Amino acid sequence: MKFAVIGHPVAHSLSPAMHAANFRALGLGHTYVKIDVAPEELPSTVGRFVAEGYRGFNCTIPHKEAVMPLLTRLDDSARLCGAVNTVRIEPNGTMTGFNTDAAGFRASLEGRVTWKGASVLLMGAGGAAKAVAVACLLAGARVTLANRTRAKAETLAAFLQTQLDASVPVVDFAAAHPADCDLVVNATSIGLKPTDAALFPAAAFRSGQVVCDIVPVAHETATLAAARAAGALPVGGLGMLVHQGAEAFRIWTALVPDVAAMFAAITPTHFNV
Ligand code: ATR
Repeated sequence: MKFAVIGHPVAHSLSPAMHAANFRALGLGHTYVKIDVAPEELPSTVGRFVAEGYRGFNCTIPHKEAVMPLLTRLDDSARLCGAVNTVRIEPNGTMTGFNTDAAGFRASLEGRVTWKGASVLLMGAGGAAKAVAVACLLAGARVTLANRTRAKAETLAAFLQTQLDASVPVVDFAAAHPADCDLVVNATSIGLKPTDAALFPAAAFRSGQVVCDIVPVAHETATLAAARAAGALPVGGLGMLVHQGAEAFRIWTALVPDVAAMFAAITPTHFNV
């Protein structure tokens, strides 16, 4: 079977290595390639996938919303998140859009967070933050949003109200109080670069809480180092990346993925996952 990830840019994607490792571990001859697709090439690329017998693909920035009208139908996961990161193509060309980011986020915190009634401070209001917010709310947590551009947090809160009938308070970025929450999630792009500063100093965190930085990098971000120094449990973003990919594989093949092989392919040290 043939699979791909499309994005623009996509050169940095760890997904091909991760999926190839899983295919190898399971003895499957499937392929998974990365293809840089400019926004104007999206419809023709999706059409080509069907013609060339691809059985599915992942989409990343900037295609997660633009791909939706090109598909035959949307799974509830995609409808709830308002974005698609996984498409399954049937042999007859039917395409179904899914979102596995929310499930991936939840799986990456399995056994670390007691969701029911947990208080979550979510920093950020982009596409990644939206999937995290949906995941937390569906799990029964209470979410507070803070974003540099407050208006975008207000827009996300309104989306969550409409989609999930959830009341999500918004606070100013500078007024956020991580120590008040059971779980703090960094869903901004701060931390992507190894030189990025911490979102909060160690004094803003406390022991007993979980701090999750969903940027999918193999280095310990400054935010996670600060959390660790305060005695909080730091969780990096590679787990969410692996688990969203594992869920996509289940959707495509109905097989059980080798999650350990996927982790090993992208992080030799299992750092903070
Ligand atoms: P993604 O799909 O990964 O969420 P995105 O939609 O571009 O990417 O969102 C990036 C997020 O990081 C936004 O919440 C953005 O804040 P703004 O809405 O104010 O742009 C946040 N972000 C990026 N750089 C930031 C910075 N230097 N300080 C604070 N927040 C930042």
